[in-house]
Amino acid sequence: MPRRRSTEPAYFAAVNAITIAIDGYSSCGKSTLAKQLAAHLGYTYIDSGAMYRAVALFVMENGLAPGGTLDRAGLLRALDGIDIRFQHDPMTGHSATWLNGRNVEQEIRGMAVSQHVTLVSPVPEVRAKLVRLQQELGAGKGVVMDGRDIGTVVFPDAEVKLFMTARPEVRAERRYQELLQKGIDADRESVIANIAQRDLDDTTRAADPLRKADDAIVIDNSDISAEEQFRRALEAVADVLARVGHE
Ligand code: DC
Repeated sequence: MPRRRSTEPAYFAAVNAITIAIDGYSSCGKSTLAKQLAAHLGYTYIDSGAMYRAVALFVMENGLAPGGTLDRAGLLRALDGIDIRFQHDPMTGHSATWLNGRNVEQEIRGMAVSQHVTLVSPVPEVRAKLVRLQQELGAGKGVVMDGRDIGTVVFPDAEVKLFMTARPEVRAERRYQELLQKGIDADRESVIANIAQRDLDDTTRAADPLRKADDAIVIDNSDISAEEQFRRALEAVADVLARVGHE
């Protein structure tokens, strides 16, 4: 087993797997970084936001958000029957989100779901269910999970915690371009408004609000390239492994 600190994949393969928690605001590139890290380290990437999006889709499809207001009692009654899992999609080569036996990966990325997700994400019972599922998925370590409460609630003992941020206008433009690229219909003003609303909702909700864990490393990527961001994150992982990876 190598003793030398390195950022090469072979080094990571030889040391004990750790947990990497990535939190931060909407649309600041958490999933891009998480996927890069997971691929480099040979870890599993888990998108916790996809789970909240799947619950939002369930609510929309089952008439539980009439007029944009959540039927909370209805959701709580239905909660046990909501099955969310991830499955490898051979068509795309990536993991896809499944809701009650159906691949919903495309649908959960649209604006309608983005607009409904903050109806369900503050509900403590929804959070408890999804946090439990996330903890089960990450129990074996060797995972990179991104979200809002991963370093604070889901894996407070994660060896590496990253907290990502970027200026709101930078994030809105990125999200807008991403939606256009995916062929999803969107207008810039509603993307900006949605990001502002989700920032507010994520940081002010009573249950598990978005906040930086005390031991998280902050990465503001407003003015740095994706390569530079990846380099910094990998350095942070290598530092931790040099301390704990050889036990
Ligand atoms: O990361 P995302 O934008 O796909 O997340 C969708 C929504 O889910 C977001 O508005 C906040 C919520 N979320 C959450 O409350 N906790 C998480 N761990 C992940 C996402």
